[in-house]
Formats: sequence, C-alpha cells, structure tokens
Amino acid sequence: METTCNAAQDRDIQQEHQKLVEPLGGWQRTHDCAALRPGHLREEVCLMGWVQFRRDHGGLIFVDLRDREGLTQVVFSPEIAPEAHARAHVLRVEYVIAARGYVRERPVGMTNPNLRTGGIEVVVTAWKLLNTARTPAFMLDDRLEPAENLRLEYRYLDLRRPRLTANLRLRHKMAQSVRRYLDAQGFIEVETPLLTRSTPEGARDFLVPSRLNRGEFYALPQSPQLFKQLLMAGGLEKYFQLARCFRDEDLRADRQPEFSQIDIEMSFVDEDGVMELAEGLMRSLFKETLGSDLPQPFPRMGYAEAMRDYGVDKPDTRFGLLLHDVTAMLRGSSFRLFSGAALVKALKVGGGERLSRKEIDDYTEFCKIYGAQGLAWIKLRPGEWQSPIAKFLSGDERAALTAELDLREGDIVFFQAGDPDMVNAVLGNLRLRLGRDFGLIDDKLLNFLWVTDFPMFEYSAEEKRHVACHHPFTQAKPEHMGLLLADPAAVGARAYDMVLNGVEVGGGSIRNHNAEAQRLMFKALGFSAEQAEEQFGFLLRALESGAPPHGGIAFGFDRLTMLITGSSSIRDVIAFPKTQKATCLLTRAPSAVSPVQLRELGLKAN
Ligand code: AMO
Repeated sequence: METTCNAAQDRDIQQEHQKLVEPLGGWQRTHDCAALRPGHLREEVCLMGWVQFRRDHGGLIFVDLRDREGLTQVVFSPEIAPEAHARAHVLRVEYVIAARGYVRERPVGMTNPNLRTGGIEVVVTAWKLLNTARTPAFMLDDRLEPAENLRLEYRYLDLRRPRLTANLRLRHKMAQSVRRYLDAQGFIEVETPLLTRSTPEGARDFLVPSRLNRGEFYALPQSPQLFKQLLMAGGLEKYFQLARCFRDEDLRADRQPEFSQIDIEMSFVDEDGVMELAEGLMRSLFKETLGSDLPQPFPRMGYAEAMRDYGVDKPDTRFGLLLHDVTAMLRGSSFRLFSGAALVKALKVGGGERLSRKEIDDYTEFCKIYGAQGLAWIKLRPGEWQSPIAKFLSGDERAALTAELDLREGDIVFFQAGDPDMVNAVLGNLRLRLGRDFGLIDDKLLNFLWVTDFPMFEYSAEEKRHVACHHPFTQAKPEHMGLLLADPAAVGARAYDMVLNGVEVGGGSIRNHNAEAQRLMFKALGFSAEQAEEQFGFLLRALESGAPPHGGIAFGFDRLTMLITGSSSIRDVIAFPKTQKATCLLTRAPSAVSPVQLRELGLKAN
C-alpha cells in the first residue's frame, strides 16, 4: 500500500480517485465500528468510517475501518464479491467509505484480543467511496506523538485520534453531569454578554472596537463576575453558566487565553453554603466520571499555613516535604546570607544525599526561574555534614536544625534565604519538582483541599498600590472592615479556593452586597469616588436597590477536565486551543484585517 509520495503525486491520485466518489444514496449505517461481536454472526450490516489501514494479503484486501467508536476489520474477497474487491485497490488511508456486508467469525489464530471487535470481521458485498483524502500530515495512531504544532495545524486530523475523541467525550459527559446536578439543586442556567465592559479579574482585557460608537471598545469578559452579581440583585437566587472567559495573560500548561468556567452564584449564603454546594458538585462529578468517592467534607487549610508549609497558595498535599522556617535559629549565624535575611526556609529530602553535583546544579538552575540567586544545600554523610556552607554552622545551629528537620544520615537539606515571596516561590516549586523526581506522588490520589482566609490585598510593585487578591467585589472579613484604609495588608478576605492535587480548580468569595462597603473597598484600592462611580456606578446602583447577601464560585472547567482525563496539558481537552503565543495554528488567528474594516472602525494598525 502506498504510504509515501510527494505532494503533487498525492494531489493527482486524489483527483483521480475523487471521480469514483458516490453519494450516500440512502445507505444507512446499521452499527458503529465498535459494535459487532461473534453474536452478530451472518447478520447483514452497513458500516461507515475512515480507512485506518489497508493490507493486501493472499488475494484478500483487509481494511481496518475506523469511526469515533472504534475499529472493525472489513474484508474484500475476489471470490465472494469480485466487483467490490476489484474497486477496493483504490483505498488509501483516511478515505471515507460505506461498506455493506455480513459478519463472520475470524478464523482460528486470526482473532485480535486487543480489539473489542477482534473476534469478527465483515465480509464486504458492496461498498461506496464517500470521499478521498490527501496523505495525512501525521499518522493517526495514539502510540505515536506527532509534534504539537503539527497537531494544532491539522486539528481535525488530531481530533480523529482516539485519545482526543475520548477527552472531548468525557468533557461532554462532565458538562451534562454539572448541568444535571445544578438543575436538581434549583440553579438556573443564564447566559451573560460577551460584548461588555472590562471586569477587573487581574489580567489584561481583550478589546473589541465598536463600529457604531467610534473610538469606544467593548471588553470580552474575564469572567461573568459582575453579571452574576447583577442576577442576584435581579432576584434569580441561584445561577450557573458554563461561561466562556477571556484573559490576555502569559500562558502556561494550565492556562488558555479563552477558557470555560462552571460559574456559580447564590443568594442568602455564607462561605459554608457555597462550599457545601461546590463540594456536592465535585462529589457528583467525580462519581459520575471516574467512579471516585470523595471525602465529606473536604479538608480546609488557611492561606498562612499553606504559605508556611508549602510555599504556595495551592498546596499539593499528596506528599510531605514540608518547608521549615529556620530564620530564628540562624539569626546569629556567621553566614551573612542567613543571618541578614528576612526569611530563611529549609526543605529536607530523605535519601537526597545521593544527588550528584550535576543534579544539584540542575535544581539550582530551576530555582533561578523563581528568582533565586543560588541554592544552598547540606548533605548528611556518615559522620559529617558535607556542604559549601557547613563551615558557617555552629554546633548549636546544627543541633537546632537537626531537631527542627528531624535530620538523619542520607538526607539532603536545601535552603533559601531572602525576600519572603521569593523564598516561598523557590522552595514551593522546588518541593513540587523534588516530589516528582523522587517518586513521592501517588498519581491515583485525588487530594481536594479548600484554601481559606486569604488576605484581601496584595501589593503590586508594578502599579504601586494595593490590588485585590481575588477581586474587588469580595467582602473583607467583618472584623477587619475598620482596617480597610488604615492597614490594608492586615485585612482578610471572605474568599476561598478549591485546590486539587496542587492545581487551583476553583475560586470564589462572599461579595459586598452593601453599597457602602463596596465604595470603601474601591477607596482602599485607590479609586476616587468619581472613578468608582464612572466604572462601577451600575453595580453600586444595583447594590443600593436591595441586593441580597450573595456569594459564589467559579471552577476552571478545562482544568477540571485536564485532571479528570489525566491529561498533562489543558490543550488536550480543548477542541481548538491556542498556542503558548495565543495563536490558532489552524485558522491562523489572529490575522491582519483589511483597510476597509479598519476604516469602518476608525482604527489604524501600525
Ligand atoms: P478566578 O479568576 O479565580 O475567579 O477564576 C476561577 C477559575 O478559573 C480557572 N482559570 C483558568 N483556566 C484556564 N485558563 C485561564 N487563563 C484561567 N484563569 C482562571 C481557574 C480558576 O480557579 N469571577 C471569579 C470567580 C468568583 O469569584 O466567583 C473568577 O473568575 O481554575
């Protein structure tokens, strides 16, 4: 069978074969390509699908016919159907055919236990060529992994591969499961606008110029946050939506510029009301998709504890390797880097003493991504502490470290000292890497965790002001309301994140339903009363018109699908994802537009 030929030959062959294409002409499929079993013996069937593979063998032509459900072997025999057999010589990979025939058992020794239909084959009596195909850009075989750029450029081919089809099918099942659960709980699905005003979720907006209002722009929503609050003011009480969100931010393996949320808002609830509903939704979703029974309730951890022990606000609790604050015990150290640092943290790895110099250098390079200058370490060798910094550590300091970290022979300890954000980011990420490298993570675990008690604000060095950690519509803890202007760093938020195996799968909060509290929040964020009115006057009006207490949460639907399907990239669970550079290789978006279009919008491109 021909598999290689140049593009011109390929086109010529396709054009020639295209003349043989016939219409469906009323033929109907009787079964899918995964359905037939020895129990269907001698039944007349009609299958339709793509040629996965063709083999010519002893006068017979065998074709593995594929549809989205699976594969069936069909046989063209010169004895049984000479005309059908003679025409089958044109068949090439990815040609689309309809095949009528009857089911027969495969001869002894020819069965395929790896295939659901491996006990039978279909002997073709008549068939139609429904379409031809160019030689595909890559083989559609799950055992091969073509370059991702090629997969994205020819996404329609990629989607024919069983793994991607399975991912999209599971995503569909998840969406159905979510809708069923929330409907049963009395939630109403409402669509909110995509052409809207900017909502401050912390990323850049995608802007859409308005033709009818020259010089003005819509923003694509970063989330439906304000609309869902307006729906609460509108008396809907329980809202949800599988919402499309758009954020112009740096992309990572679990981030896309457009993504989907399971977006939820409820009236007359506190934190526990939202969290209970969210847990119920996850329990039902994971039961229906993976058959898993999740704990009830999910464990909770305060933000401060998460940062202290894990260095990140989304701890992966499937393994230990906790960080230890050793600042105080090294305060008097002769090693200036330690004694003068705002924070010194240590991370011990049992058995890490065997790490080579090269491996330690690799970890050091890894730490530099997160702002480290270097990475201090100590190996606990029999009878000695081997380390470039060992000479700086006094007997008391060694004793204190041994007690704090429960040190034993064979351990390695990594240290990071300096700015607390940097120290936590470096060791938090090093911990994850070591957890993987040392095989400490049990892939079968589903460790859900609520992270609570977030600070309300974080300081943005870029903007030189406090910005909301979650978003500006989150309520401050009632006991901290008085500190909003006086000491913003001390204000706690009524916000919560849901974390699964170290991935933030959802986040939400209780909102300000009181207009005065919301005004105060805007003030703390550096908005003048006029600016707040100009940007959010509509929200303030709604809050003033009898808004009920309300709160909610949004789950990253793509991230959840990634975790449920066990995919390593969010792109594998999205039909048409964007690249790291936010481009679509299939349609070549974004693209230049015509001068006429720009003129109509009153815009100039440079
Ligand atoms: P937040 O910004 O935390 O909250 O987003 C909620 C969840 O959406 C997912 N997510 C993303 N997934 C893929 N690509 C992205 N670029 C991306 N950004 C976020 C994450 C995250 O936990 N309106 C609030 C929710 C609320 O307060 O109710 C919001 O959008 O899984």
